[in-house]
Amino acid sequence: MFTIENQATGNCFTIQEGETILNGAMNNGFGFPYGCRNGFCGKCKATLIEGEVDYAEGNPPGLTAEEIADNMILPCKCQAKSNLSIVVTELESVADIEVKTLPCKVSQIEHLNADVAKVVLKIPGSESLQYLAGQYIDLIHPDFEPRAFSIANAPHNSGVIELHVRLISGGKFTNFVFNEMQEKSLVKMEGPKGSFYLRESSDKPMIMVAGGTGFGPVKAMVEHAIESGSKRDIHVYWGVRSEQDLYMTLPSEWAKTHDNISFTPVLSLPDESWEGRTGYVHEVILADFDTLTNYEVYACGPPEMVRSAANTFAKKGMFENNFFNDSFDFAYQASNE
Ligand SMILES: Cc1cc2nc3c(=O)[nH]c(=O)nc-3n(C[C@H](O)[C@H](O)[C@H](O)COP(=O)(O)OP(=O)(O)OC[C@H]3O[C@@H](n4cnc5c(N)ncnc54)[C@H](O)[C@@H]3O)c2cc1C
Ligand code: FES
Repeated sequence: MFTIENQATGNCFTIQEGETILNGAMNNGFGFPYGCRNGFCGKCKATLIEGEVDYAEGNPPGLTAEEIADNMILPCKCQAKSNLSIVVTELESVADIEVKTLPCKVSQIEHLNADVAKVVLKIPGSESLQYLAGQYIDLIHPDFEPRAFSIANAPHNSGVIELHVRLISGGKFTNFVFNEMQEKSLVKMEGPKGSFYLRESSDKPMIMVAGGTGFGPVKAMVEHAIESGSKRDIHVYWGVRSEQDLYMTLPSEWAKTHDNISFTPVLSLPDESWEGRTGYVHEVILADFDTLTNYEVYACGPPEMVRSAANTFAKKGMFENNFFNDSFDFAYQASNE
């Protein structure tokens, strides 16, 4: 096991023997830049200040002889032979991330309940998608305008993209997903997009407000926080209509296994057997916190929920610049097609 220090940021992490530096950085939640992850594109270039690295398959094509002489390395392909000190610009904001258009294979369609499907897309082997936890992609199909769906898995597993798709009654694209899309079929995606992502430089406690499939990007952010060893308090609230709309048990498991994570499901249309919280999710949060002054709030889901949270939380002390959201507006009108 070796220690890697990035002198550009002061970030430090350890990597296992045989692990590439890039994988080590990603597994520790650091936003090292990358493209092909295969030694070709040169996007992951870093400068080696101290220590020794090795390329299992010889010098990669993405580095010239001059760059090698100048101590440039490709973290996607090299392994540490000692503790390392390197310099690399880490991605801290969406501005640093390339938006790509990629063909993907649908590797799994799993119906999680009557109107939500988990769709897993496999990125082509030679490519990878770099994104920040919480961002979304556009799915592109020749018969429809692009449709936005949030990425529901954390970036450390970026060879696949998990989406939670809610069936919209009369909706063209979501009906296509539920009734026609097959496993192994090809789709095109464009992304990552959006500025709804986890602010990792902050140490403020967080309130995550998910409405319906707004749970998807919340899942990505919490999984990323867990993966990167964050100890920030995370209060996850998930508002849905009835118990069957809680389509994953994962947040209860997070709360059981992590002292810093709590989970509160909230039903707006519960049946008599429900013993948990009821009403609108933002009202339950208002009841649970005396003040929201010190919190970062991440809200995602139906536009009405996001609007209500923004308006009422501000009156309870939440600072505007501590409120981050993705409102699931339907960006493209069916009449435009
Ligand atoms: C940034 C962003 C991220 C998103 N992430 C997700 C996600 O992770 N999971 C997810 O399930 N959805 C997500 N959405 C919403 C999703 O994009 C729409 O539900 C989808 O485009 C509907 O496509 P459609 O062709 O089935 O419906 P359309 O044929 O476009 O619409 C048919 C009619 O249904 C109604 N409608 C459409 N969408 C919605 C909606 N979302 N809510 C209520 N009524 C609607 C409208 O009346 C519309 O005219 C996201 C939206 C945005 C903007
Ligand atoms: S990511 Fe392309 S060379 Fe490293």
